[in-house]
Amino acid sequence: MAEAPQEFPERTGRLSIRTVAMPADTNPHGHIFGGWLMSQMDLAGGMHAVQRARGRVVTVAVEAMEFHQPVEVGDEVSCYTEVVRIGRTSIAIRVEAWVRRQCLDNTPLRVTTATFTYVAVSPEGGKRPVPPEE
Ligand SMILES: CC(C)(COP(=O)(O)OP(=O)(O)OC[C@H]1O[C@@H](n2cnc3c(N)ncnc32)[C@H](O)[C@@H]1OP(=O)(O)O)[C@@H](O)C(=O)NCCC(=O)NCCS
Repeated sequence: MAEAPQEFPERTGRLSIRTVAMPADTNPHGHIFGGWLMSQMDLAGGMHAVQRARGRVVTVAVEAMEFHQPVEVGDEVSCYTEVVRIGRTSIAIRVEAWVRRQCLDNTPLRVTTATFTYVAVSPEGGKRPVPPEE
């Protein structure tokens, strides 16, 4: 019987999204499209930001996006998120994406890193202060 997969010891932050890269997520060359991965990272960071901001946020910036390794169809993709800066209305979240090749490999690889900045907004769409931490 296959050994149970281990959690990723070197990753930082909390697990915000885990999914599998599918054939529909490929570019014309058959590799996973970088834009798909960025959207997963934005979703992961956005969920973390919504929880910290206790309400709606919008993405205002992405910095230092780096692609370290390719992602392949069938890889398990996990996005880890960590708050790195809180301003008056903004929250910066570092996002790391890691893969487990074909959902099986016990040696996870860090594939991308970036810092996403979100702005807390009211239901009407105007900026609002980030509330104090509970
Ligand atoms: C987000 C938005 C409401 C901000 O409005 P704004 O009047 O330009 O706001 P400000 O210039 O005062 O910036 C608001 C906060 O974002 C931060 N910010 C703005 N641009 C930034 C950038 N490029 N990088 C990092 N932080 C940035 C500011 O420092 C400020 O943070 P603080 O309040 O914690 O000090 C507005 O730009 C907007 O609606 N953008 C579109 C968002 C969107 O639709 N995202 C999805 C894209 S598909």
